[in-house]
Amino acid sequence: MKTNIALIGFMGTGKTAVGEVLAQRLNKTFIELDLLIEQKAGKSIPDIFQQDGEIVFRELEIEVTRETASKKNLVIACGGGIVLNKINIDRLRESSRTVYLTASPGAIVKRTSGEPGQRPLLEVDNPTQAIRELLKFREPFYQRAADITVNTSKLDINAIVEEIISRLKEDEGFNL
Ligand code: S3P
Repeated sequence: MKTNIALIGFMGTGKTAVGEVLAQRLNKTFIELDLLIEQKAGKSIPDIFQQDGEIVFRELEIEVTRETASKKNLVIACGGGIVLNKINIDRLRESSRTVYLTASPGAIVKRTSGEPGQRPLLEVDNPTQAIRELLKFREPFYQRAADITVNTSKLDINAIVEEIISRLKEDEGFNL
């Protein structure tokens, strides 16, 4: 029986904000993979990208995903690029249902521009264009990885959490 929920989706789709409330509602432990990566590296994500490069970041992401996927009763907020390495999704799915949070490109631009400097992949001359290109490239990866999909564009956090819970209640292979 699966007891973890892994939240996947692009940067700015609300994985952290939704994950915290969802974990509280279900009495599960909230884990943020990006934070585990920072702890393991002893530096921030922008520093990992800048000093060590994206590949080192992805290797750390694979490590913390493997360690986390073996635990129980978690709500896991994954980094937006988790789906790029299939091994991550295979490992997560052994213990988790994957919930894919989507949002329109416009909503993502708006949400991510409020937090400058935090996301190395958007530290470019034209972040709006980068978002559109990355979304287009990644969309099939997210879709392939998703058990449940929730469009967050028009919902507040509580409504998103309720939607996820009602979908999981119908799920016989999942232990709420
Ligand atoms: C990334 C998303 C970030 C973080 C890193 C790379 C990505 O996480 O893991 O900057 O490749 O989409 P959030 O989705 O929590 O911003």
